[in-house]
Amino acid sequence: MDSFLIQGGVPLRGVISISGSKNAALPIIMASIAVDDEVTYTNVPDLRDIHTTIRLLNILGREVGLEQGTVRVKNGVLGMEAPYDLVKTMRASVLCLGPLLARLGEAKVSLPGGCAIGARPVDQHLSALEKMGAVFDLENGYIHGRCPDGLRGAQIRFDFPTVGGTENVLMAACLAKGETVLENVAREPEIVDLANFLIRCGARIEGQGTTMIRVQGVDRLHGCTYAIMPDRIEAGTFLVAAGVTGGELLLKNCPVEDMSAVVDKLRDAGMVIEETEEGVLARAGEGGLRCVDVSTRPHPGFPTDMQAQFMVLMCCAQGSGLVEENIFENRFMHVQELVRMGADIHVTGSSAMVRGGRRLTGAPVMASDLRAGAALVLAGLAAEGETRVQRIYHVDRGYEHLADKLSAVGARIRRVKEED
Ligand code: UD1
Repeated sequence: MDSFLIQGGVPLRGVISISGSKNAALPIIMASIAVDDEVTYTNVPDLRDIHTTIRLLNILGREVGLEQGTVRVKNGVLGMEAPYDLVKTMRASVLCLGPLLARLGEAKVSLPGGCAIGARPVDQHLSALEKMGAVFDLENGYIHGRCPDGLRGAQIRFDFPTVGGTENVLMAACLAKGETVLENVAREPEIVDLANFLIRCGARIEGQGTTMIRVQGVDRLHGCTYAIMPDRIEAGTFLVAAGVTGGELLLKNCPVEDMSAVVDKLRDAGMVIEETEEGVLARAGEGGLRCVDVSTRPHPGFPTDMQAQFMVLMCCAQGSGLVEENIFENRFMHVQELVRMGADIHVTGSSAMVRGGRRLTGAPVMASDLRAGAALVLAGLAAEGETRVQRIYHVDRGYEHLADKLSAVGARIRRVKEED
C-alpha cells in the first residue's frame, strides 16, 4: 500500500491541465453495454475506477482497449452478471443494471453494500426500473432483474434527485418501448454529458440538465467517438490548492461554467478566480482567506464531493464558518484527521463548525474515502512540516497522477511504499 509524503508550506505556481471527469466517464463507458457497434472514448482519465469499469466490461464479454486516454469498446457477446468482487470495490458498477436489462432482458448485479460515507441504497434505481416492467429478486446478495418482454416507457418521479439513479434509468429508457418521462431527476453536468453521448449514438433525449428528462425509445444505438468532459471536482480541488498554499495556478480545460457554486464560494472566501484566454487563474486575494458558511446540495448547489476540500480552506482562513452536509449521512471522516493536524472543528450531526486561523502542522493521517483523501493532501500542502497520507488507494480512484501534477507546480510530494 502506498502513501503520499508531503513537505508542506510551498506556494504552488504554474499550469495544471484538468483531466477527463471520473464521474462522467464511468456511466458513459458503462453505456457502451447498450450500444451495438464499436465505441471510442477520448479524454478518459487513467484511474483505478476506470480500470475497474474496463474489468467489468471484460467480464461481460466485451473486448476493451485502453491507450493513453482513449478507450475502445468492441462489439461482442454480453454476459449478464456483475460479480461481488468487483462491485464491492466500486459502487458505480451498479450502473450496468439499466443498460443490461435494456439489452438482454436480464441482469444479475451484486448488491452494493454500505461504504465509508454512508448507506447509499439503490432503491430509487430499482423502483424506477420496476415501473418500466422489470421484476427484481434478491438472491444470495445479488439483485436479479428480469424483463423478458423488454422494458416499456413509463412516467417516473424520483423521491429525490439521485445521480446514479437518473443515469441508470436514462440508459435503460433509451432502448425501452415508447416514451419515458423522468421527473425530479438530478441535473449534474455528468448526466448532461451521458445524455449527449447517448444522443450521439442515436438516442432521442430531451431535457437533460433540467429536472425533467423525456426519452423516446429507439430500437438500437449505434457506435460513435466521444470526448469525456473535464473533471469539475479535480479542478475545484486544485483551486483550493492554490488558495491554501498562497500560490497561483492556471487551470487549463477547467469546466468553469459547471462550477458556479464552488467558484462563488471560493470568491466569497477571498480567492481571486479569473477566466482568461488560457484558462482559469486562481490565487488567494490580498486580504487573505476568510471562513464562509457552506451547505451541500444537488447540482447546481455546492457539491458534496468538494465539501472536505473546502473545509481545509476554512481551516486556513480567518474567522469561523459552518459546513453542512446534506447529501451523505457520514461524510465527515476527514474531520478527526484534520484535527490531528491542528484544525479546530466540531461536528454536531450533519454540521461542522470550523474555527479558522490555525497553522496546520504535518502529521501521519489516513484517507477514509476519495475526497477525504484529497482534503488531507491539501492540508498536507498547507501545513508546516511533513504529512504522510496513508491509504491513498482511495485517492487513486479519482485523481489522475495527482502527485505528478502537484510536483510539476512546485509541491514537495512523493509516493512512497507504506513501510518506507
Ligand atoms: C454520485 C457520484 C458521487 C457524488 C454523488 C452526489 C458517481 C460515480 N458518483 O454518487 O461522487 O458524491 O453522486 O453528488 O457519479 N440514495 C438513496 N437511494 C437510491 C439512490 C441514492 O437513498 O436509490 C441516496 C444516497 O444514499 C445518497 C443520496 O441519495 O445519500 C445521493 O446519492 P446519489 O445522487 O445517487 O449518488 P451516487 O450516484 O451514488
